[in-house]
Amino acid sequence: MKVSFYTSQREFSEKKDEFNRAIQDVLERGNFILGEQVGQLENAIQEYTHAKFAIGVASGTDALTIASDILGFKDGREVITSPFTFLASTSCITKHKGRPVFVDIDEETFAIDVNKIEENVNANTIGILPIHLFDQMVDMDRIMDIAGNHQLKVLEDAAEAFGMRWKGNGRHYKHSGSIGDLGVFSFFPTKTLGGYGDGGMIITNDEKLAQKVKYYRVHGASKKYHYEYVGYNSRLDTLQAAILLVKLKYIDGAISKRGEIAKQYIERLSDCKNIRLPKVKGEQQQVYYVFNLLAENRDKLAEHLAKNEIGYSIYYPRPLHLQMCFRDLGYKKGDFPIAERVANKIIALPIYPEMTMEEVEFVCETIKSFYKN
Ligand SMILES: Cc1ncc(COP(=O)(O)O)c(C=O)c1O
Repeated sequence: MKVSFYTSQREFSEKKDEFNRAIQDVLERGNFILGEQVGQLENAIQEYTHAKFAIGVASGTDALTIASDILGFKDGREVITSPFTFLASTSCITKHKGRPVFVDIDEETFAIDVNKIEENVNANTIGILPIHLFDQMVDMDRIMDIAGNHQLKVLEDAAEAFGMRWKGNGRHYKHSGSIGDLGVFSFFPTKTLGGYGDGGMIITNDEKLAQKVKYYRVHGASKKYHYEYVGYNSRLDTLQAAILLVKLKYIDGAISKRGEIAKQYIERLSDCKNIRLPKVKGEQQQVYYVFNLLAENRDKLAEHLAKNEIGYSIYYPRPLHLQMCFRDLGYKKGDFPIAERVANKIIALPIYPEMTMEEVEFVCETIKSFYKN
Protein backbone atom coordinates (compact mmCIF):
# COMPACT_ATOMS: atom_id res chain seq x y z
CA MET A 1 0.00 0.00 0.00
CA LYS A 2 1.17 3.52 -0.82
CA VAL A 3 -0.20 6.44 1.20
CA SER A 4 0.29 9.97 -0.16
CA PHE A 5 0.76 12.79 2.31
CA TYR A 6 -1.83 14.68 0.29
CA THR A 7 -3.53 14.31 -3.07
CA SER A 8 -6.24 16.32 -4.82
CA GLN A 9 -6.86 13.56 -7.38
CA ARG A 10 -9.47 11.59 -5.45
CA GLU A 11 -11.55 14.67 -4.75
CA PHE A 12 -11.31 15.76 -8.37
CA SER A 13 -12.36 12.39 -9.73
CA GLU A 14 -15.33 12.25 -7.29
CA LYS A 15 -16.61 15.70 -8.30
CA LYS A 16 -15.18 15.99 -11.79
CA ASP A 17 -18.36 17.23 -13.45
CA GLU A 18 -18.88 20.02 -10.93
CA PHE A 19 -15.29 21.22 -11.14
CA ASN A 20 -15.26 21.06 -14.92
CA ARG A 21 -18.49 23.02 -15.14
CA ALA A 22 -17.17 25.69 -12.77
CA ILE A 23 -13.91 26.04 -14.72
CA GLN A 24 -15.63 26.04 -18.09
CA ASP A 25 -18.01 28.76 -16.94
CA VAL A 26 -15.05 31.07 -16.24
CA LEU A 27 -13.42 30.22 -19.58
CA GLU A 28 -16.64 30.88 -21.47
CA ARG A 29 -17.31 34.21 -19.77
CA GLY A 30 -13.64 35.23 -19.90
CA ASN A 31 -14.03 37.10 -16.60
CA PHE A 32 -10.57 36.18 -15.35
CA ILE A 33 -9.82 39.21 -13.17
CA LEU A 34 -12.21 39.89 -10.28
CA GLY A 35 -15.04 38.08 -12.05
CA GLU A 36 -18.38 37.58 -10.29
CA GLN A 37 -17.25 34.27 -8.74
CA VAL A 38 -14.78 36.23 -6.58
CA GLY A 39 -17.64 38.32 -5.17
CA GLN A 40 -19.76 35.20 -4.72
CA LEU A 41 -17.00 33.49 -2.77
CA GLU A 42 -16.45 36.60 -0.64
CA ASN A 43 -20.17 36.67 0.21
CA ALA A 44 -20.17 32.96 0.99
CA ILE A 45 -17.15 33.32 3.29
CA GLN A 46 -18.76 36.29 5.05
CA GLU A 47 -21.76 34.10 5.69
CA TYR A 48 -19.68 31.12 6.82
CA THR A 49 -17.40 33.09 9.17
CA HIS A 50 -19.91 35.81 10.21
CA ALA A 51 -17.25 38.40 9.38
CA LYS A 52 -18.79 41.58 7.93
CA PHE A 53 -16.23 41.82 5.13
CA ALA A 54 -14.16 39.32 3.13
CA ILE A 55 -11.73 40.33 0.39
CA GLY A 56 -10.08 37.80 -1.91
CA VAL A 57 -6.37 38.24 -2.64
CA ALA A 58 -3.70 36.26 -4.49
CA SER A 59 -2.33 34.16 -1.58
CA GLY A 60 -2.18 33.84 2.18
CA THR A 61 1.27 35.42 2.05
CA ASP A 62 -0.07 38.48 0.23
CA ALA A 63 -3.00 38.64 2.64
CA LEU A 64 -0.55 38.84 5.57
CA THR A 65 1.69 41.39 3.83
CA ILE A 66 -1.20 43.67 2.88
CA ALA A 67 -2.77 43.36 6.34
CA SER A 68 0.56 44.15 8.08
CA ASP A 69 1.05 47.17 5.84
CA ILE A 70 -2.43 48.49 6.62
CA LEU A 71 -2.16 47.89 10.39
CA GLY A 72 1.19 49.69 10.52
CA PHE A 73 3.34 46.65 11.31
CA LYS A 74 6.32 48.50 9.79
CA ASP A 75 9.00 51.17 10.13
CA GLY A 76 10.66 49.80 13.25
CA ARG A 77 7.46 49.14 15.22
CA GLU A 78 7.41 45.84 17.14
CA VAL A 79 4.99 42.99 16.63
CA ILE A 80 4.82 40.09 19.08
CA THR A 81 4.55 36.68 17.44
CA SER A 82 5.73 33.06 17.45
CA PRO A 83 8.95 31.77 15.86
CA PHE A 84 7.36 28.37 15.23
CA THR A 85 5.38 28.92 12.05
CA PHE A 86 5.58 29.28 8.28
CA LEU A 87 7.89 32.01 6.97
CA ALA A 88 5.07 34.28 5.80
CA SER A 89 3.78 34.91 9.35
CA THR A 90 6.99 36.84 10.03
CA SER A 91 8.14 38.01 6.58
CA CYS A 92 4.95 40.09 6.40
CA ILE A 93 6.38 42.18 9.27
CA THR A 94 9.98 42.48 8.05
CA LYS A 95 8.88 43.24 4.47
CA HIS A 96 8.06 46.80 5.56
CA LYS A 97 10.86 47.01 8.14
CA GLY A 98 8.70 46.16 11.12
CA ARG A 99 10.38 44.22 13.92
CA PRO A 100 9.08 40.78 14.91
CA VAL A 101 9.53 40.08 18.62
CA PHE A 102 9.39 36.35 19.16
CA VAL A 103 7.92 34.60 22.18
CA ASP A 104 8.41 30.88 22.83
CA ILE A 105 5.60 28.38 22.30
CA ASP A 106 3.47 26.13 24.48
CA GLU A 107 4.91 22.61 24.18
CA GLU A 108 1.47 20.96 24.09
CA THR A 109 -0.28 23.12 21.50
CA PHE A 110 2.75 24.41 19.51
CA ALA A 111 1.16 27.87 19.53
CA ILE A 112 2.53 31.09 21.07
CA ASP A 113 2.66 30.90 24.88
CA VAL A 114 0.12 33.57 25.75
CA ASN A 115 1.60 33.89 29.27
CA LYS A 116 4.81 35.30 27.83
CA ILE A 117 3.33 38.02 25.64
CA GLU A 118 2.71 40.86 28.07
CA GLU A 119 6.29 40.98 29.40
CA ASN A 120 7.43 41.82 25.85
CA VAL A 121 5.10 44.78 25.34
CA ASN A 122 6.77 48.21 25.38
CA ALA A 123 6.06 51.71 24.06
CA ASN A 124 7.23 50.66 20.58
CA THR A 125 4.91 47.65 20.33
CA ILE A 126 2.15 48.08 17.76
CA GLY A 127 0.57 44.67 17.52
CA ILE A 128 0.26 40.96 18.14
CA LEU A 129 0.24 38.38 15.37
CA PRO A 130 -1.17 35.10 16.74
CA ILE A 131 -1.03 32.05 14.44
CA HIS A 132 -3.77 29.42 14.64
CA LEU A 133 -1.57 26.49 13.79
CA PHE A 134 -2.25 22.90 12.65
CA ASP A 135 -5.36 21.88 14.60
CA GLN A 136 -6.40 24.65 16.98
CA MET A 137 -6.74 28.34 17.71
CA VAL A 138 -4.61 30.43 20.05
CA ASP A 139 -6.38 31.58 23.24
CA MET A 140 -8.08 34.61 21.69
CA ASP A 141 -9.53 35.79 25.02
CA ARG A 142 -6.03 36.35 26.36
CA ILE A 143 -4.81 37.90 23.10
CA MET A 144 -7.71 40.37 22.95
CA ASP A 145 -7.36 41.23 26.66
CA ILE A 146 -3.67 42.03 26.26
CA ALA A 147 -4.35 43.97 23.06
CA GLY A 148 -7.09 45.94 24.80
CA ASN A 149 -4.89 46.74 27.83
CA HIS A 150 -2.10 48.14 25.66
CA GLN A 151 -4.03 49.40 22.59
CA LEU A 152 -2.39 46.93 20.23
CA LYS A 153 -3.61 45.82 16.82
CA VAL A 154 -4.28 42.12 16.29
CA LEU A 155 -3.65 40.33 13.00
CA GLU A 156 -4.82 36.71 13.11
CA ASP A 157 -2.87 34.36 10.86
CA ALA A 158 -5.71 31.93 10.21
CA ALA A 159 -4.04 30.65 7.01
CA GLU A 160 -4.33 27.08 8.37
CA ALA A 161 -7.47 27.64 10.40
CA PHE A 162 -10.47 27.60 8.08
CA GLY A 163 -13.43 26.20 10.04
CA MET A 164 -11.84 26.63 13.50
CA ARG A 165 -13.97 28.50 16.03
CA TRP A 166 -13.24 30.03 19.41
CA LYS A 167 -15.65 30.34 22.30
CA GLY A 168 -14.65 32.51 25.20
CA ASN A 169 -16.13 34.46 28.08
CA GLY A 170 -19.50 32.78 27.55
CA ARG A 171 -19.79 34.27 24.07
CA HIS A 172 -20.91 32.43 20.97
CA TYR A 173 -18.33 30.63 18.88
CA LYS A 174 -16.39 33.04 16.70
CA HIS A 175 -14.71 31.94 13.52
CA SER A 176 -10.92 32.16 13.36
CA GLY A 177 -9.81 35.39 11.73
CA SER A 178 -12.94 37.30 12.76
CA ILE A 179 -11.84 38.30 16.28
CA GLY A 180 -8.81 40.55 15.74
CA ASP A 181 -8.61 43.68 13.58
CA LEU A 182 -7.84 41.65 10.46
CA GLY A 183 -7.65 37.88 9.82
CA VAL A 184 -6.25 35.99 6.86
CA PHE A 185 -6.89 32.64 5.18
CA SER A 186 -4.74 30.75 2.71
CA PHE A 187 -6.31 28.66 -0.05
CA PHE A 188 -3.06 26.82 -0.80
CA PRO A 189 -4.11 23.40 -2.23
CA THR A 190 -3.40 21.33 0.91
CA LYS A 191 -5.42 23.62 3.17
CA THR A 192 -8.77 22.59 4.69
CA LEU A 193 -10.37 24.91 2.12
CA GLY A 194 -7.75 24.63 -0.62
CA GLY A 195 -7.93 25.71 -4.25
CA TYR A 196 -6.18 24.28 -7.29
CA GLY A 197 -3.48 26.92 -7.12
CA ASP A 198 -2.66 29.90 -4.90
CA GLY A 199 -5.27 32.08 -3.25
CA GLY A 200 -6.02 33.92 -0.04
CA MET A 201 -8.53 36.12 1.76
CA ILE A 202 -8.64 38.86 4.37
CA ILE A 203 -11.63 39.12 6.69
CA THR A 204 -12.63 41.92 9.07
CA ASN A 205 -15.57 43.55 10.81
CA ASP A 206 -14.16 47.04 10.30
CA GLU A 207 -15.55 48.85 7.29
CA LYS A 208 -12.66 51.32 6.95
CA LEU A 209 -10.06 48.56 7.04
CA ALA A 210 -12.07 46.54 4.52
CA GLN A 211 -12.19 49.49 2.15
CA LYS A 212 -8.44 49.91 2.42
CA VAL A 213 -7.84 46.20 1.69
CA LYS A 214 -10.03 46.55 -1.43
CA TYR A 215 -7.92 49.49 -2.63
CA TYR A 216 -4.65 47.79 -1.75
CA ARG A 217 -5.37 44.69 -3.83
CA VAL A 218 -5.73 46.83 -6.97
CA HIS A 219 -2.56 48.93 -6.64
CA GLY A 220 -4.16 51.26 -4.09
CA ALA A 221 -6.77 52.51 -6.56
CA SER A 222 -10.13 53.86 -5.35
CA LYS A 223 -11.27 53.84 -8.97
CA LYS A 224 -9.51 52.82 -12.14
CA TYR A 225 -6.25 54.76 -12.59
CA HIS A 226 -6.89 56.89 -9.45
CA TYR A 227 -4.49 55.83 -6.71
CA GLU A 228 -5.03 56.70 -3.05
CA TYR A 229 -2.11 54.54 -1.93
CA VAL A 230 0.79 52.60 -3.40
CA GLY A 231 -0.77 49.15 -3.14
CA TYR A 232 -0.34 45.70 -4.63
CA ASN A 233 -1.45 43.68 -7.59
CA SER A 234 -3.03 40.89 -5.57
CA ARG A 235 -6.39 39.60 -6.69
CA LEU A 236 -7.91 36.22 -6.02
CA ASP A 237 -8.07 34.56 -9.43
CA THR A 238 -11.61 34.03 -10.74
CA LEU A 239 -10.75 30.42 -11.67
CA GLN A 240 -9.68 29.72 -8.09
CA ALA A 241 -12.81 31.41 -6.73
CA ALA A 242 -14.96 29.19 -8.97
CA ILE A 243 -13.17 26.06 -7.73
CA LEU A 244 -13.36 27.19 -4.10
CA LEU A 245 -17.12 27.80 -4.43
CA VAL A 246 -17.52 24.12 -5.31
CA LYS A 247 -15.33 23.05 -2.40
CA LEU A 248 -17.05 25.32 0.11
CA LYS A 249 -20.32 23.44 -0.47
CA TYR A 250 -18.73 20.31 0.98
CA ILE A 251 -16.56 21.92 3.66
CA ASP A 252 -18.45 20.76 6.76
CA GLY A 253 -18.34 17.13 5.58
CA ALA A 254 -14.64 17.49 4.76
CA ILE A 255 -13.94 18.88 8.24
CA SER A 256 -15.77 16.00 9.95
CA LYS A 257 -13.87 13.44 7.83
CA ARG A 258 -10.63 15.01 9.02
CA GLY A 259 -11.91 14.69 12.59
CA GLU A 260 -12.74 11.00 12.10
CA ILE A 261 -9.27 10.28 10.74
CA ALA A 262 -7.65 12.12 13.65
CA LYS A 263 -9.80 10.13 16.09
CA GLN A 264 -8.61 6.88 14.51
CA TYR A 265 -4.98 7.97 14.74
CA ILE A 266 -5.44 8.89 18.41
CA GLU A 267 -7.18 5.60 19.25
CA ARG A 268 -4.68 3.42 17.44
CA LEU A 269 -1.55 5.24 18.60
CA SER A 270 -2.45 6.04 22.20
CA ASP A 271 -0.64 2.95 23.54
CA CYS A 272 2.59 3.81 21.73
CA LYS A 273 5.01 5.07 24.40
CA ASN A 274 7.47 6.73 22.05
CA ILE A 275 5.13 9.33 20.67
CA ARG A 276 3.15 12.23 22.10
CA LEU A 277 -0.27 12.90 20.66
CA PRO A 278 -1.71 16.38 20.08
CA LYS A 279 -3.66 18.18 22.83
CA VAL A 280 -6.22 20.91 22.42
CA LYS A 281 -6.54 23.77 24.91
CA GLY A 282 -9.35 26.23 25.49
CA GLU A 283 -13.03 26.01 24.64
CA GLN A 284 -13.02 25.79 20.89
CA GLN A 285 -14.09 23.79 17.86
CA GLN A 286 -10.85 22.48 16.48
CA VAL A 287 -10.20 21.38 12.89
CA TYR A 288 -7.49 18.91 12.01
CA TYR A 289 -5.76 20.65 9.14
CA VAL A 290 -2.55 18.84 10.15
CA PHE A 291 -2.15 15.79 12.40
CA ASN A 292 1.15 16.10 14.24
CA LEU A 293 3.04 13.82 16.60
CA LEU A 294 6.07 14.42 18.76
CA ALA A 295 8.15 11.33 18.03
CA GLU A 296 11.27 9.89 19.65
CA ASN A 297 13.94 9.27 17.04
CA ARG A 298 11.89 11.34 14.57
CA ASP A 299 14.30 11.28 11.64
CA LYS A 300 14.62 7.49 11.68
CA LEU A 301 10.84 7.17 11.95
CA ALA A 302 10.53 9.44 8.90
CA GLU A 303 12.95 7.18 6.98
CA HIS A 304 10.91 4.14 7.99
CA LEU A 305 7.69 5.79 6.75
CA ALA A 306 9.34 6.73 3.45
CA LYS A 307 10.61 3.16 3.01
CA ASN A 308 7.03 1.97 3.42
CA GLU A 309 5.78 4.53 0.87
CA ILE A 310 3.96 6.64 3.44
CA GLY A 311 4.07 10.40 2.93
CA TYR A 312 4.87 12.67 5.87
CA SER A 313 5.83 16.27 6.38
CA ILE A 314 7.87 18.20 8.90
CA TYR A 315 6.30 21.49 9.91
CA TYR A 316 8.67 23.13 10.81
CA PRO A 317 12.23 21.77 10.86
CA ARG A 318 13.84 25.12 11.75
CA PRO A 319 12.14 27.85 13.79
CA LEU A 320 12.18 31.29 12.22
CA HIS A 321 14.59 32.88 14.76
CA LEU A 322 17.28 30.53 13.39
CA GLN A 323 16.66 31.26 9.70
CA MET A 324 19.42 33.02 7.74
CA CYS A 325 16.97 35.55 6.32
CA PHE A 326 16.19 36.84 9.83
CA ARG A 327 19.77 36.89 11.13
CA ASP A 328 19.65 40.69 11.47
CA LEU A 329 17.08 40.31 14.24
CA GLY A 330 19.96 39.06 16.40
CA TYR A 331 18.40 35.90 17.80
CA LYS A 332 20.52 32.82 18.46
CA LYS A 333 20.23 29.12 19.19
CA GLY A 334 18.79 28.53 22.65
CA ASP A 335 16.64 31.69 22.68
CA PHE A 336 13.40 29.73 22.29
CA PRO A 337 14.16 26.25 23.64
CA ILE A 338 10.65 24.85 23.35
CA ALA A 339 10.29 25.80 19.69
CA GLU A 340 13.74 24.31 19.02
CA ARG A 341 12.92 21.06 20.84
CA VAL A 342 9.58 20.68 19.07
CA ALA A 343 11.23 21.31 15.68
CA ASN A 344 13.43 18.25 16.27
CA LYS A 345 10.57 15.93 17.22
CA ILE A 346 7.53 16.97 15.25
CA ILE A 347 6.19 14.97 12.31
CA ALA A 348 2.89 15.30 10.42
CA LEU A 349 0.98 12.24 9.20
CA PRO A 350 -1.26 12.12 6.12
CA ILE A 351 -4.75 13.52 6.72
CA TYR A 352 -7.27 14.53 4.07
CA PRO A 353 -10.98 13.79 3.71
CA GLU A 354 -10.61 11.14 1.01
CA MET A 355 -8.16 8.98 3.01
CA THR A 356 -9.47 5.50 3.77
CA MET A 357 -9.51 3.88 7.21
CA GLU A 358 -7.31 1.06 5.79
CA GLU A 359 -4.71 3.67 4.96
CA VAL A 360 -4.91 5.16 8.46
CA GLU A 361 -4.51 1.67 9.93
CA PHE A 362 -1.50 0.99 7.71
CA VAL A 363 0.17 4.24 8.83
CA CYS A 364 -0.43 3.35 12.51
CA GLU A 365 0.85 -0.22 12.14
CA THR A 366 3.94 1.05 10.32
CA ILE A 367 4.68 3.51 13.15
CA LYS A 368 4.20 0.80 15.78
CA SER A 369 6.42 -1.67 13.90
CA PHE A 370 9.20 0.95 13.88
CA TYR A 371 9.21 1.27 17.67
CA LYS A 372 8.95 -2.50 18.26
CA ASN A 373 12.30 -3.09 16.56
C1 LIG B 1 0.65 29.67 9.08
C2 LIG B 1 0.71 30.07 7.64
N1 LIG B 1 0.78 31.38 7.33
C3 LIG B 1 0.82 31.79 6.06
C4 LIG B 1 0.81 30.91 5.01
C5 LIG B 1 0.94 31.43 3.62
O1 LIG B 1 -0.11 31.10 2.78
P1 LIG B 1 0.11 30.94 1.19
O2 LIG B 1 0.86 29.67 0.95
O3 LIG B 1 -1.29 30.91 0.67
O4 LIG B 1 0.84 32.14 0.71
C6 LIG B 1 0.73 29.53 5.30
C7 LIG B 1 0.66 28.48 4.27
O5 LIG B 1 1.19 28.22 3.34
C8 LIG B 1 0.70 29.10 6.63
O6 LIG B 1 0.65 27.80 6.93
